[in-house]
Amino acid sequence: MKILITGGAGFIGSALVRLLVNETDCEILNLDKLTYAGNLASLSSINNDSRYKFICADICDAESVNRIVQEFNPERIMHLAAESHVDRSVESPNAFIKTNIIGTFNLLNAARSLYDSGVDLLFHHVSTDEVFGSLGATGLFTETSPYAPRSPYSASKASSDHLVRAWGETYGLPFVITNCSNNYGPYQFPEKLIPLMIMNVLESKPLPVYGDGKNIRDWLYVDDHARALYKVTSEGQVGETYNIGGNSEKTNLEVVNTLCDAINEIRPAVGFPYSELIVHVTDRPGHDFRYAIDSSKIKRELGWQPRESFDTGLRKPVKWYLNNLDWCETVADGYGQERLGLKPVN
Ligand code: NAD
Ligand code: DAU
Repeated sequence: MKILITGGAGFIGSALVRLLVNETDCEILNLDKLTYAGNLASLSSINNDSRYKFICADICDAESVNRIVQEFNPERIMHLAAESHVDRSVESPNAFIKTNIIGTFNLLNAARSLYDSGVDLLFHHVSTDEVFGSLGATGLFTETSPYAPRSPYSASKASSDHLVRAWGETYGLPFVITNCSNNYGPYQFPEKLIPLMIMNVLESKPLPVYGDGKNIRDWLYVDDHARALYKVTSEGQVGETYNIGGNSEKTNLEVVNTLCDAINEIRPAVGFPYSELIVHVTDRPGHDFRYAIDSSKIKRELGWQPRESFDTGLRKPVKWYLNNLDWCETVADGYGQERLGLKPVN
């Protein structure tokens, strides 16, 4: 199967590319702009494989997107390229509107042209549970939960989900959408909670927990997400949505304390426990309280199950970051783990 993957140099995209090259016979073209979040070093283990190719391009450039899609002639487009960090979307929503909405629109148009020319194509939009908004103390997001995005990031992802469905209904473009919960694992840019906290512990910097730290996320190991994406792309029903989650709800404070313990097992703290680095800082504006996914549909219909629990999975990125500080230094070029997203810049 020929698959065009957008955003394949990012955190989840690179896990997906590594999985498909290592465990399937798919032919992959990775289209990525290589923003601050995209790094080819994340793909060094499969870079020379004859079934893998990379092209540097911006999905906001409609002409290039159209040419690349026509030339590669894929049977699947797995669209992951996006601006992905909520805090950055608070600060600078501009890039989120461009890449996540206009970029998706460009890809949909290119996909429609290819499909109309007779190619048996499926457009897979990789989306987020954040489109459903914020849960209270109980309840789970299902595939029929109403859309209620609350940040510029989630509003841009909700918009792109809507565009994908509209291209399906209006132009008949075959599509699937997946909405996933928080991922963790190796190769994640150290702006997100888990890698940021690991890097800060290693540098004895404060561990900034937003607000009271009681906000809840449902954590999924990134390779389990990549396997789910391949299942949906290869076996999912056209026109359907699949929720993907880890059934691992944790408060942010639980996550940070567990990380401190896990790092302590490998590199014991000297003088005082790592958890003493925790500081409560000003809350994220519009901070969603709780996300939790009901993934019974993908389990029931496609037989997907996560292989990692939070307890087994969390030790993996901890070990990985400790052993790959050079990757962090390369990708973090110019980013000093500073607080993002307290006020708008544009
Ligand atoms: P990421 O920020 O790590 O990677 C994004 C990738 O997209 C980077 O390689 C970047 O260079 C590329 N990109 C950005 N703008 C581009 C453009 N204009 N043209 C081409 N490439 C561009 O993101 P991620 O965490 O790997 O997330 C991947 C996808 O999965 C996103 O669509 C995100 O919304 C979704 N998602 C993420 C999570 C999560 O927990 N990280 C959970 C659910 C869904
Ligand atoms: O739910 C899926 C989403 O998960 C994806 O769509 C997004 O792309 C991904 O970034 C992630 O969004 P979150 O906002 O949940 O992830 P983040 O790692 O930024 O924050 C996780 C929680 O930790 C959130 O409640 C905010 C809090 N936090 C985050 C940072 C960076 C802190 O308390 N301190 C921090 O320094």
